[in-house]
Amino acid sequence: MTEIKKSIHGEWSSRFAFILAATGSAVGLGNIWKFPYITGENGGGAFVLVYLLCVALIGIPIMIAETLMGRRGRQSPINTMQSLARDAGADESWHYLGWIGVITGFLILSYYSVIAGWAMSYVFKSLSGSFSGEGVDHIAKLFDAFIASPMQLIFWHSLFMMATMDVVVRGVQGGLEKAVRFLMPSLFALLLVMVGYAMSTDAYQQGLDFMFNPDFSKIDGHSILTAMGHAFFTLSLGMGAIMVYGSYLPKHVSIAKTSFIVAGADTAVALLAGIAIFPIVFANNLEPSSGPGLIFQTLPIAFGQMTGGLIFGTLFFILLVFAALSSSISLIEPAVAWLVENHNVSRNKACTWAGLATWLLGLGTVFSFNLWSDFKLFDRTVFDLLDYLTANLLLPIGGFFVAVFAGWIMLRRHSEEELEMQYDAGYWLWRFLVRYVSPAAVFLVFLNVVGVLSV
Ligand code: PFF
Repeated sequence: MTEIKKSIHGEWSSRFAFILAATGSAVGLGNIWKFPYITGENGGGAFVLVYLLCVALIGIPIMIAETLMGRRGRQSPINTMQSLARDAGADESWHYLGWIGVITGFLILSYYSVIAGWAMSYVFKSLSGSFSGEGVDHIAKLFDAFIASPMQLIFWHSLFMMATMDVVVRGVQGGLEKAVRFLMPSLFALLLVMVGYAMSTDAYQQGLDFMFNPDFSKIDGHSILTAMGHAFFTLSLGMGAIMVYGSYLPKHVSIAKTSFIVAGADTAVALLAGIAIFPIVFANNLEPSSGPGLIFQTLPIAFGQMTGGLIFGTLFFILLVFAALSSSISLIEPAVAWLVENHNVSRNKACTWAGLATWLLGLGTVFSFNLWSDFKLFDRTVFDLLDYLTANLLLPIGGFFVAVFAGWIMLRRHSEEELEMQYDAGYWLWRFLVRYVSPAAVFLVFLNVVGVLSV
């Protein structure tokens, strides 16, 4: 007999609600802001191919693992790891994995919120007609002046953090479930509009070639690490976000199927964003490798020129903010769930403290674009350092241990029960990937980047 545990924080109302929430967590700035600029910085096609391989061979198996571990444990990742380890007769120090996740989420949110703030401010820039009829130079100046102003960045960062906290306070079934239901498809539709615009530029083919024609001489160990790190980042894996969402998943919902849907939707959004952006980059003789400002320096050019651009531009940035919001709440939910479970504080208080701490750390990212732009640690600004540390190191390390735990430590009977596919080739394949392929791939990428291997 399987005991049916429920989470004290509530449960998703349906399978569809979980898919929406998990897709909401996965689809965010990672897809629309980060994927295009890191693809640009890492030479295009070959990088995209490595990223897609990482999603398929590492990301999807680990997403299945995280979800099933969450549903089995039914608590915050820290407590889930502790109780799963106990069930398996393993050392309880596995709960430190949950801790790494909480810390990683906190670090990511601190800079995520600053960038989401940029998107918020661009809603108003678009609405006030700042892009209308403007060319490359004006749009670039607008962006440079904006990030040079700490006060403006702090204002929008604060606003975004408040919005995040507001949603998190309401709990899993609050406003977000409903909002995401309508916002995700709208974002998708608007991306299609942007792809339509990209098709009308004469650099459409050039953009496609850049993204899909692999030139392996353009990548090295660091690009491979970035591609793998991004697979974790974009799918929200390796820090317990999907695990905590899995803990609110009702019994008998197929975890494998939902993971394919979430990963598929996430990948589709990223590819569409790239297809929309690179033709604009080439049509305007911009640099694909211009970094974190890429979408803010390209899309407004398109909005400024297209018919109805004011409306499309405003809508686009609104939807981007909501996509970021449905991700940011999952970055802090593991910490909030743990505070509520272990410290007997209200959700309200837990959110306030976690939110304040994140906001404060976010100032480091704000200043790295202006006052502290010359201040470098390990040759990186605060923002670059946080991004590298979390996406390229902490998430893959977390994901590696999730795979090891699900494949080697957790009782086989438990993962079979959660996946409801004991004698299935699907189960066999998942187990093979999670035991051997995913951890080995992460390990090899790390070895490669420290120079032990050389590809
Ligand atoms: N997946 C989100 C994005 O692509 O924007 C970012 C993210 C959310 C990363 C939640 C990690 C996470 F746990």
